[in-house]
Amino acid sequence: MRSAIIRTDRYARGSIVFHWLIAVAILLNLAIGIGHDAMPRGAMPVHKALGITVLILSLARLAWRMTHRPPPLAPDMPMWERTAAATSHWLLYAFTILVPLTGWAMVSGGPVRRPLEWFGLFPIPYLPVSEAAAGAAHEGHEILGYALLALVVVHTLAALRHHLILRDSTLVRILPILRAPTPR
Ligand code: HEM
Ligand code: HEM
Repeated sequence: MRSAIIRTDRYARGSIVFHWLIAVAILLNLAIGIGHDAMPRGAMPVHKALGITVLILSLARLAWRMTHRPPPLAPDMPMWERTAAATSHWLLYAFTILVPLTGWAMVSGGPVRRPLEWFGLFPIPYLPVSEAAAGAAHEGHEILGYALLALVVVHTLAALRHHLILRDSTLVRILPILRAPTPR
């Protein structure tokens, strides 16, 4: 039966869309977060709205991941690489939720509450947090934000190692375009 044929060599289209939407939004938000002091006043409302969007997309992605298994790893992949991949991927899932959540909590209970809006279209409610919790969230947002940046750097280097050095299909199977490199 045609519908029973499942391609196991690529990520599902939904996984690919979630991966790249969230990746681009996070890279933008890391840049705005780290550089906001040098940016125009309009940058921070974009950071917040984009961050809330990442939070919602990441929760939806987690639900998607629970119901869609990724394609299996190459059978000859060493155990340490399997463990490293699984650990870093679950950490990335956790961070894509915790970083925006701490940002939202920090602005919700902070001493000054600026209007919170989704790209000027509608208001975003504040979370019910105390000033003390907001202070802790502020710390958490900074630490987890930089930890996420470090994880993304390692994750990207690992993807490039697979593509350029090991010359396997790890990167290609999550890209909407590009073909696998030809083995040497
Ligand atoms: C993808 C999601 C997000 C990422 C990757 C991210 C990342 C960052 C980073 C790296 C910083 C700089 C930390 C520092 O050097 O002090 C920052 C600052 C900040 N973020 Fe986020 N953030 C995200 C979501 C949010 C959300 C959802 C909000 C609020 C609704 C928010 C509010 C803020 C604020 C107000 C600052 C400035 C803090 C300060 O200067 O003390 N962020 N963010
Ligand atoms: C903020 C940026 C990024 C985040 C949060 C992120 C997150 C993730 C997560 C959670 C997975 C695991 C998917 C799963 O199996 O459930 C994944 C897979 C993957 N990502 Fe990223 N990613 C980011 C950026 C990138 C970039 C820039 C590249 C490449 C240059 C990349 C390449 C890959 C590859 C190749 C896989 C598949 C790994 C495998 O099949 O085992 N990612 N990413």
